[in-house]
Amino acid sequence: MDAVRIYGGKSLSGQTRIQGSKNASLPILAATLLIDGTCEIENCPDISDVYHMLRLLESLGCQVTREKSLIRVDTGGVAACDMPADSVGVMRSSIMLLGALLARMGTVSMEYPGGCVIGKRPIDQHLCALRRMGVEIIEGREEFQAKAGKLHGAVQELPFVSVGVTENLILAAVLAEGETVICPAAREPEIQALCEFLIKAGGRIQGVGTKRLVIEGVKKLHPVRFRVPADRIVAGTYLTACLCAGGNVFLEDAPCEQMQSVLSCAGALGAGLMVWPDGLFVEGRACNRLADGLVTKVYPGFPTDLQSLFMVAIALSGQDGWIEETVFENRFRIVPELVKMGADIRVEGNRAYIRGDRPLHNTIVEAQELRGGAALVVAALAAEGTGIVRNRHYIDRGYEDITLSLRELGADLELA
Ligand code: EPZ
Repeated sequence: MDAVRIYGGKSLSGQTRIQGSKNASLPILAATLLIDGTCEIENCPDISDVYHMLRLLESLGCQVTREKSLIRVDTGGVAACDMPADSVGVMRSSIMLLGALLARMGTVSMEYPGGCVIGKRPIDQHLCALRRMGVEIIEGREEFQAKAGKLHGAVQELPFVSVGVTENLILAAVLAEGETVICPAAREPEIQALCEFLIKAGGRIQGVGTKRLVIEGVKKLHPVRFRVPADRIVAGTYLTACLCAGGNVFLEDAPCEQMQSVLSCAGALGAGLMVWPDGLFVEGRACNRLADGLVTKVYPGFPTDLQSLFMVAIALSGQDGWIEETVFENRFRIVPELVKMGADIRVEGNRAYIRGDRPLHNTIVEAQELRGGAALVVAALAAEGTGIVRNRHYIDRGYEDITLSLRELGADLELA
């Protein structure tokens, strides 16, 4: 079955290594299209979103080989520029190939990547910004064609911060003629990793880590070997597992320097945290009230991808609390499933009000998307009785093996 069975009510004790970052691996794999030759990407997570990205690269003519977490991409044979609809539809991050393919091939046709339960996730800003760089885009009902003779740089004053738009513009600008300015650029660590990869390959990018990126187009990039950083959202997920179930865990390779807002919130909730050079030690459970609530923001603010996880922690803290979601318009899909477990959560617009004094009991719940699915597993660890979380395939998009990692941390669960 496509599910996880969890035997709840046990505290955690153990250690696990944090996998490479999904949201850094995907744009970096797309960026290999800008480089003629073979790039070697280390520490790529073994997850279905990376699998789909590799299939997309192969469908374009790339040779892809994998040795554990080392992926080699040889783009010498790239010929096609039409993306197979089934792969584009399955994974939104295929939109990142748009900028890279335009830079490499000059023309792309692809289906509109679907939205998902957390929001419509349109690509209007991607298309609008690429038009400013000389791309002609003909939009159909199901798909669009994009053509560019030679991409030219542009000043990109964006209406709001978008991770994907920033990534697409970096990929379109790094080989374009002239200079591109992106402001406000997203500052997520994944953007910084993409810039570091491209700079190592010969790209000229200034302002890395700031909200203003200046990219000077170059003629050519050269193949490189690059290591993807650890996944801050996966580390935050297992940190929250300890906040909810209690106990003490060590998260090897946790990128603590990228998790300041998360660590500060976890500390305020009552966790004991010790940052070590090789990871993060966590002990205790959520037991305090977050006086000022929790508001999701673009980096370095609290990440929307950990909002569902911290909703569970607040629901188990014994203290009432509230969360405001400011990035996506529909990211409280986990609420009805938590209510089935006994939680008392009221949603009003983009705010969720959470009672912290309701014990959770295990039952059968349904994951609706990636991070909400992980949050349901974490809730089941702390709830009484045996629970089932269905639709595990959503969770496998971003977590290498959530059952193995949580078992390493002392949890009692199994594939079902
Ligand atoms: C990236 O999505 C991540 N995905 C998401 O992680 C993450 O939640 C999100 O950034 C915010 O941090 C990957 O990196 C693969 P956005 P992205 O463009 O790029 C709206 C996960 O769990 N928008 O920053 O799609 C959009 O609808 C995933 O790993 C437009 O309106 O996010 C959203 O409301 C979930 N028009 C807001 O901007 C556009 O053209 C921010 O989205 C583009 C975006």
